[in-house]
Amino acid sequence: MREGLDSRFLEQVRSRSDIVEVLGQYLDLKKAGKNYVGLCPFHPDRRPSLSVSPERQMFYCFACGAGGDVFTFVMKREGVSFAEAVRFLARRAGIPWPGRHLTPPEEARSRHRRRLLDALALAAEFFNERLMGGNEGEGARAYLVQRGISEETARRFELGYAPASWDALAKFLVRQGFTEQELADAGLVVPRESGGVYDRFRHRLIFPIWDVHGQVIAFGGRALDDTQPKYLNSPESPVFQKGSSWYALHLARDAIRRDRKAVVVEGYMDVISAHQAGFRSVVASMGTAFTREQARVLQGYCSGVVICYDADAAGQSATWRSLEILRDLGLRVYVASLPAGDDPDSLLRREGREALARVLEGALPLVEFRLEVAARQATTVEGKLQAVANIIPVLADLSSPVERETYVREAARRLAVSEGALWQELRAYGRRGRGHKRPPVRERIAEMNEAGRRPALVKAEEMLVRLMVDDSRRVERVRARIGADDFHHPVWRELATAVMEMAAGTAGEMDTASLAAGLESEQALSALARLQVEEFACPDPERALEDCLALLEGERKRQRLRELGDVISEYDRRKEPVPAHILEEYQELVKTVQGRKRRPG
Ligand code: UTP
Ligand code: MN
Repeated sequence: MREGLDSRFLEQVRSRSDIVEVLGQYLDLKKAGKNYVGLCPFHPDRRPSLSVSPERQMFYCFACGAGGDVFTFVMKREGVSFAEAVRFLARRAGIPWPGRHLTPPEEARSRHRRRLLDALALAAEFFNERLMGGNEGEGARAYLVQRGISEETARRFELGYAPASWDALAKFLVRQGFTEQELADAGLVVPRESGGVYDRFRHRLIFPIWDVHGQVIAFGGRALDDTQPKYLNSPESPVFQKGSSWYALHLARDAIRRDRKAVVVEGYMDVISAHQAGFRSVVASMGTAFTREQARVLQGYCSGVVICYDADAAGQSATWRSLEILRDLGLRVYVASLPAGDDPDSLLRREGREALARVLEGALPLVEFRLEVAARQATTVEGKLQAVANIIPVLADLSSPVERETYVREAARRLAVSEGALWQELRAYGRRGRGHKRPPVRERIAEMNEAGRRPALVKAEEMLVRLMVDDSRRVERVRARIGADDFHHPVWRELATAVMEMAAGTAGEMDTASLAAGLESEQALSALARLQVEEFACPDPERALEDCLALLEGERKRQRLRELGDVISEYDRRKEPVPAHILEEYQELVKTVQGRKRRPG
């Protein structure tokens, strides 16, 4: 998230951008103890939930969890990237932007990328001119009229027309000084085996694909008749990675930030029609499944996502996986149900904006949607069994007991089975280890691990990070016994990694500014900010340190035990003798893990 800028320059900008002073330009801050407090601008706030620590140069909102350093604040508030936030603050502090020093290969790569982006921007203009005027573009213009796309919308989305020619674009760009190799690298032309190149996009309606800043990085081209494929897309290139782009994000991001929600649809035309009808927070995933990286991009803008795929796509397992990625990142996921056979574009065309508005308003939280699907399935006895089987993993996945309780009740009602039966299934599912067969010993240990220990573990991880940040001399003691990998919660693991990397050879309170700079995720930054801003007193830090370490060490042992259990049962399965050292390690571990359990306290 924060790579690419000279660290000395960053430090200079940071030290001249006092957090209280900068935030004070946006908010009314009042002194409260060591900190300042104010109304949080990132959620509707009635009492001042946002705390700012002048000492630590961090802010944190105790209501919505927004938090970080001065750069984070500007990024979130102005809706800009990290580099843009730095630029903004540098300008404010009157610090000139440094010439960034690149190594020669870096320099060459960056120049090459620049050339590709220039070629792509010119290509977009070329296509757009051919759509907007002249005889060639007549068919494409008629097609847009037929699909109800206004000229204004076509301009807004920089739509274009690729003429029915093998080399119109190539010739044009070569005349502008680009080499065939550059055009091929940009995905605009395809090399011929016999030498030379030909235009990739011919006689197609062109949809430029942009990065978040609105730079053209690729194209999609739709056939104007039933030529296959219906859509032809640019291949991946040094400037275009499918797995990290959203279609139209730069046009949607303000609305997404305002609504705190993004609407995700499947297709280019869905996005365009939706925006034209006033739904401005709509982006497309360019296919139904999307990646973790794409999910992270969205997460930078909102806390919830509404999925609005056509009914078939919503049912596919690839879609479920994507939705789970979103949920695992902590985004609230809703699923909107379109009438069968419709996509947002066709619904809008046929029934107008109110119809789509109703669909979006009726979006259900992911669990409820899955319940709905299961309930629909449960009309026969067999269907009911299948429905229960499908819903159990969903219920098992709910992290809050209250939520689980609520949805078990709801599921029982909708599927017309007893709550008791569902709980029984849930417990059986838990014992089966979510479907993986475990050896008997492993099962016993899994039960020992039962509910209640996880939250304690996460608390211990938080405490360890806090203790290390407060006094970096503790890092060595921690590192002697556990590694960052032993942290389970992704946020604390990320923080522990950064802390352990940074702390080498330092003493006393850590420099959290540079710690913050090394963090990848917004959650880790926010968690660090909370640790910094929260009033906290630990009566006996040494004791706490020891307790937390013991807990994590114990967990590591149990995990190792599970691994060994797998290894042993693999040998058993193959009917091969288990090597002695494995058995020994296993038995040793069983003793210590169970021994610890039996001790009182
Ligand atoms: P759809 O087939 O649902 O197309 O594909 P659509 O968006 O409704 O398009 P229209 O309304 O027929 O014009 C959804 C998305 O999947 C990708 C495109 O991004 C498309 O918008 N796709 C589809 C392809 O990349 N290639 C294809 O051949 C088809
Ligand atoms: Mn469509």
